[in-house]
Amino acid sequence: MISKKLLSKKLSSWFPKKPPIYDIHKTYLENVAQGPFFKGQIPKRQFPPKEKWIDFLGYSVASRIGVPAGPLLTSRWVDLAAKLWFDLPIYKTIRSSEHPSHPLPNMVYVDTKDMTSTQAQLAHTPSPRLEELAVTNSFGMPSKSPEFLLEDIPRANACLQEGQVMIVSIVGSNRSHCTFLEDFVEAARLAKNAGAKIIEANFSCPNVGKSEGCLYMSPSAVAEIGSALVKAIAPIPLIIKVGTFGSEEQLREVLLAAARAGIRAISGINTVSMTVVDALGNPALGPTRLTSGICGGPIRETALNFVENAARINKEEKLGLTLIGVGGITIPEHFDQFFNAGANIAMSATGMMWDPYLAARYHNIGTYG
Ligand SMILES: Cc1cc2nc3c(=O)[nH]c(=O)nc-3n(C[C@H](O)[C@H](O)[C@H](O)COP(=O)(O)O)c2cc1C
Repeated sequence: MISKKLLSKKLSSWFPKKPPIYDIHKTYLENVAQGPFFKGQIPKRQFPPKEKWIDFLGYSVASRIGVPAGPLLTSRWVDLAAKLWFDLPIYKTIRSSEHPSHPLPNMVYVDTKDMTSTQAQLAHTPSPRLEELAVTNSFGMPSKSPEFLLEDIPRANACLQEGQVMIVSIVGSNRSHCTFLEDFVEAARLAKNAGAKIIEANFSCPNVGKSEGCLYMSPSAVAEIGSALVKAIAPIPLIIKVGTFGSEEQLREVLLAAARAGIRAISGINTVSMTVVDALGNPALGPTRLTSGICGGPIRETALNFVENAARINKEEKLGLTLIGVGGITIPEHFDQFFNAGANIAMSATGMMWDPYLAARYHNIGTYG
């Protein structure tokens, strides 16, 4: 039996001694095929007693900690996250048909402390302090084929233990044979047919075309697409993923529209879009990708601000929405900052890639098996 203190010490030494579990020098497909790159022990877990579990959209879940859409590329990644005590893993955003990733680089370190600026600078080495870990990502939301997903999503569901539930993230695409809305519904049906228990619609990716990335800002788009998805997947609960809002009024209108459409939960924030340049001022991701999404430490304050405002409006308007806080959670203490700000659930993407023991250290109740 190992003491809590020793466990905490052993679990705290992942980064910078060990590399992130997603290899940023490899392509997305290489990470799919070879990852996750985790060489460590799985800390043995004692689940909390069931009376302490929480209700999450109809599922009894052992904790309020998860991984948002992105890092969990396939069932193998979901399996690892679940074994590492992330009880609410989200299966990476899928499309109605196969879609390629942007070429490398997909992730680079950045130096940006000023979130009022619209520009971030490429950094060649990461900050060794996880609180300040700053990364940008640009993948273009790649997706595996429906055939692969119909086999892999059930595999991912099967990896989970009692007290855990997986969410599948979806997005619509612009296609020639149908409308954007029809394609979004098709992606939702694919997730449903694959056995998704909860579905999250990404209304907010900054690395895709404007029509796909800014949906969440429009109350009418949230109402129209949200209602169509709710209807298509009923009785599966729908979450929408949002980014930052221009004003509190806009956030209020969107939350009202979401609740009226039957959307059950709001997840925010997505990455924050910025231009990323190298030391000479040239685009760091190449001339065709001037902007990309900043994630990790620099966006934490912005994300907390979103959670505080959304929680207050949710209460004032009696909307009954479940709130998932995401953005800049890189050390265990950050989870509580999100809960204190009003989040029901808190999730970490960048943080868990650079420190896969993040959830275990937050719970800090296990023993090494
Ligand atoms: C590698 C990576 C891939 C991502 N891909 C997606 C995605 O496919 N869909 C989505 O909704 N968000 C995606 N995101 C955004 C995250 O879900 C999250 O909103 C954002 O990274 C902020 O959280 P963080 O600071 O903990 O990374 C991705 C993030 C990362 C780091």
